[in-house]
Amino acid sequence: LKTKFKLNLIHKSHGGEIFELSESQSSNFLDFSTNINPLITTNMLKLSTISAIEDMTKYPDSNSLKLKKKLVEMFHPDINQSNVIIGAGAMELISVFCDCLISKGDKVGILQPTFSEYEWAVEKNEGIVQNLFRYPENNFSLQPEELMKKLDPQTKILFLCNPNNPNGKLDSKEQIEFLVSLAQNKGILIFLDEAFIEFTEDFNQTLELIHKYPNLFICRSLTKFYGVPGIRIGYGLGSSDLIRAMQGFQNLWSVNCIAQQIMFDLLNNDLLHLMSHELFSSERDYMFKELAKIPHLKMYSTDVNFILIEIETQKYTAQTLQQQLLKENILIRDCSNYKGLDDGYFRICIKQRKENSILINKLKEILNHNA
Ligand SMILES: Cc1ncc(COP(=O)(O)O)c(C=O)c1O
Repeated sequence: LKTKFKLNLIHKSHGGEIFELSESQSSNFLDFSTNINPLITTNMLKLSTISAIEDMTKYPDSNSLKLKKKLVEMFHPDINQSNVIIGAGAMELISVFCDCLISKGDKVGILQPTFSEYEWAVEKNEGIVQNLFRYPENNFSLQPEELMKKLDPQTKILFLCNPNNPNGKLDSKEQIEFLVSLAQNKGILIFLDEAFIEFTEDFNQTLELIHKYPNLFICRSLTKFYGVPGIRIGYGLGSSDLIRAMQGFQNLWSVNCIAQQIMFDLLNNDLLHLMSHELFSSERDYMFKELAKIPHLKMYSTDVNFILIEIETQKYTAQTLQQQLLKENILIRDCSNYKGLDDGYFRICIKQRKENSILINKLKEILNHNA
């Protein structure tokens, strides 16, 4: 083709490449590479889908009004309807946020290691990325003052994720507020990705910051805690000016009627919250206890449903360990393509006891005998 493209963009790999793998391998392997709540059953989703059938012959509500009302009711008194945007996954919101704010040459900070698609969305708009880092020495924790000192004074936006992917440790509301207030004084917008926040206790603490700090946008997803990556739905909270601008950049009807119904029903599911918190708190303890018995592994503390692990022997890299486990039909996330991590880091998600113990036993077999 002779036509010149505006830009040549690519998405990095993210783990969970189950469609590619199942072409070459048996399809019933255990996927520990994506961090999805295993308690969602297809039966729950069937009921929601059936109740959305009536709506399928109409365009979906482009404003997702029923969902916005639901969120306003849930988060009363912290947000109003004008503070809410619904999107086709957090991914659409990341993309639209950048589309409506970043022009060629704008400076954007990204707190690494983290989800790689922020960078994609900045580059798509020809912004300039400055990578800043969380460090393993201090358990990847947020250091607001140091971070602000290192940030280019011309910065327009700073992306950060809390709890951060791939380490999973929650930064306190106080630390987040401190950073947001420092940023506000310098006219910097904060994109706070809370895709995993529901796995933590008291997960609505930051919402009251929305009114106090118009420079804050909070992004959430139904993908992780609510376990529906295939449905593509998430929501964002921010000042009404920002929300209006973002909605103007969204594709019309990007959130279909099935996704809207499923999100509505999942938000109503209190039992899911209860059961999930019980499961993850006990399985996190189990995993840490068992992983500690395996030589050469260093675990980083986490508040969510995944664990970042560093291999402390030259005999294995994350990639070679991944390949070894694939032979046993187990998939883990090699984290060497995260900025700021080397080839010794991998991530596993936490599932139910039966699956968790299969992974633990395989890791024990491999690392006890060969490392
Ligand atoms: C931190 C983080 N944010 C956002 C996303 C994308 O979420 P969604 O499926 O809602 O687009 C991911 C997916 O891996 C993620 O890890």
